[in-house]
Amino acid sequence: MFRTRRLRKTEGIRRLVKETKVSVDDFVYPLFIEEGENIEKEIVSMPGIKRFSLDRISKELDEVVALNIPAVLLFGIPAKKDDEGTETWNDNGIMQQAIRFIKKNYPSLYVITDVCFCEYTSHGHCGIIHDNDVDNDATLVNLAKQVISHAKAGVDMVAPSGMMDGTIAMVRESLDNTGFANLPIMAYSVKYASAFYGPFRDAADSAPTFGDRKTYQMDPSNRDEGMREATFDDQEGADILMVKPALSYLDIIRDLKNNFDRPIACYNVSGEYAMVKAAAEKGWIDGEKVMMESLLSMKRAGADIIITYFAKEAAKVLNRK
Ligand code: PBG
Repeated sequence: MFRTRRLRKTEGIRRLVKETKVSVDDFVYPLFIEEGENIEKEIVSMPGIKRFSLDRISKELDEVVALNIPAVLLFGIPAKKDDEGTETWNDNGIMQQAIRFIKKNYPSLYVITDVCFCEYTSHGHCGIIHDNDVDNDATLVNLAKQVISHAKAGVDMVAPSGMMDGTIAMVRESLDNTGFANLPIMAYSVKYASAFYGPFRDAADSAPTFGDRKTYQMDPSNRDEGMREATFDDQEGADILMVKPALSYLDIIRDLKNNFDRPIACYNVSGEYAMVKAAAEKGWIDGEKVMMESLLSMKRAGADIIITYFAKEAAKVLNRK
C-alpha cells in the first residue's frame, strides 16, 4: 500500500519534506503617509495599520527595520486634491518628501512607490476624466511626470497601479530618457476590479466619487485576459509582475509563475487583511495561524514577493521560530 503518512510522522520529518517556506525576505510592507503634522491615525477597518505624518513615522520604520523586513510600499495622502492629481508630480509633494526622508534615515530599507492618481484626484479615479471615464493616453502623460518626480527623489523601485494600457512602456521610456535606466518597475499587471479593496479606500481616501473602476481594472471572471495583461507588461519591460488581490486569485499567481521568467509578486490586499482580523477578534478563527496559512498559500501558488499588511506580525512569528 502507498503510505504517505510515513513522511508525516514527526515534526523532524515534516520539516525535511516541507516544500514551501515563507520568509521575512518575501515581504513588502505598505505604508500610508499623510501630508501634515502630528498624524497617527488608526484605520478602523484595518486594526494595527495606521496613517502617519512624516514627523511621527520613525517608530514604525524603526520597527520595520528591526524586524528585518526588506522593503516598504509607499502610498501618499496629499493635503489637497484636484482634477488631475497634480500633486503627484510636485517635487515637494508628500510622496517625494517621504522617499527622501526614508532614504536619508533608513538607507538600507528598499523603498517602492505606488504610482497612481486615485489618492490625489478630487474624483478618486486613477487618471484624468474625459466624458465620464478615465482618458488612458492623457493619463499616461501625467504618469510619466509622476514617475520621474519619484525617481528624482531617490525611490528604489516604482509600482504603477492604475491599469492604463501602455503604462509600462511609457514608464520605462521616461525613466530611460531621464537617466534612470537602472530603476526597476514592478507592474500591477493583473489587477482586478475587486471588492476586497474596500478598507484601503478608507485608508487612502481614494474611493471614486462616481462610477467604479471597471473600465480599467480587470473583470474577476477573466483568467486568459490576465495572461494577456502580463504578456504586455513583460514585453514592455516590467521587471516584476504582480497579481492583485492575492487570495481569491491564487490560480492567476500560478499562471504567471508557470509562464513568465520574472519574479512574481502578489498583493494581499486590505479586505483580505480585514477579514482575518475581524474573525480573529470575534474568536472565530486563530488569527495568527490563519495569517501564516494565507501567506503560505500565496507562496505555494508561486509568489516570490508578498505585499502584505501582515508583514510585521508575520515577521514576529517567523523570528520566533
Ligand atoms: C490604487 C491602489 C489600490 C490599492 C493599491 N493601489 C486601490 C484601488 O485600486 O482601488 C488597494 C490595496 C488594498 O486594498 O490593500 N492606487
